[in-house]
Amino acid sequence: MTRKRILTGDRPTGKLHLGHYVGSLQNRVRLQDEYECFFIIADLHTLTTRPEKENIAGISENVREMVLDYLAVGIDPAKSTIYLQSAVHAVYEMYLLFGMLVNISRVTRLPSIKDMARAANIDEEVLPLGLAGYPVLQAADILMPRAHLVPVGKDNEAHVEITREIARRFNRMYGEVFPIPDAMIGQVPTLVGTDGQAKMSKSLGNAIFLSDEPIAVRKKVFGMYTDPNRIRADIPGTVEGNPVFIYHDVFNSNKAEVEDLKTRYRQGVVGDVEVKEKLARALNDFLAPLRERREQYASQTGLVERVIYEGTLRASDEGEETVRLMKKAMGLTGIWNRISRKARKAISKE
Ligand code: TRP
Repeated sequence: MTRKRILTGDRPTGKLHLGHYVGSLQNRVRLQDEYECFFIIADLHTLTTRPEKENIAGISENVREMVLDYLAVGIDPAKSTIYLQSAVHAVYEMYLLFGMLVNISRVTRLPSIKDMARAANIDEEVLPLGLAGYPVLQAADILMPRAHLVPVGKDNEAHVEITREIARRFNRMYGEVFPIPDAMIGQVPTLVGTDGQAKMSKSLGNAIFLSDEPIAVRKKVFGMYTDPNRIRADIPGTVEGNPVFIYHDVFNSNKAEVEDLKTRYRQGVVGDVEVKEKLARALNDFLAPLRERREQYASQTGLVERVIYEGTLRASDEGEETVRLMKKAMGLTGIWNRISRKARKAISKE
């Protein structure tokens, strides 16, 4: 029996952080034996807000860092396909054909599109078609290998929903080509930032990166937002919703230590320094094996590039097959076949 498929991935905008890990990467690593996995480096998606050449020129470096992060967390290139979106022809074709199945208001209403426009200083009145098409492009990604499951953070859930609508619509109109993919949201749907803002994000400057050095991690932890009312160590503090304890819960494998810290924090008999010192250590323990794997992969010249190269060839084959199935179901193949058959006959009679 063939395994079901996963497709997910990220825009190559820089290094991945702890939020990516608990939102999606952790699920990818956990499921890579059970599913056949495709991990997309979604470089075309970065053009939806930044199509300039300067952006494109910076993509290569970001791609390398991001794939090193993938390998560092334990994604095994021997088991999974890691590929570059812009090098797969099928994506462009599928995007156009899916564009026929989506109405504009459905995508422009999405908070994610509005957020991205705002962040890029784009007025909603002059929304680029490409940015409105962001979720349609994502649908092309997900349906390219006819995926069943999409491990993503909470912020991408709506895009998987649109993908499901497109797949259903296509199947109903032309015949069954696509499975209806499910979103899988991570253990922590949205990880709080070090500054207490709802979401950890590179652009908000509140992220701890998977590739951060131990000293950087420690520094960020000591600068973390915590219970603002607790101005002295002998004042009882609030654990619930406190970013420092949220991180302890997620990343500190010593549960007894966490419980002890929480108890003493609530009683006002522990200093912030101890709580943060233990968090820094727990995070660095968590990140240590990642650093080691990253180093190993990074030191082998051409290895990362080879992983992407081979993955992209494999993904391209898959995409070609999907486009073939789509065009056949739609009847597009027939138009060209009839024309070329007659043309060849005419040519052969010359
Ligand atoms: N939209 C994702 C992000 O927030 C990136 C992405 C592009 C993606 N195509 C995808 C995620 C397909 C999951 C599946 O960066």
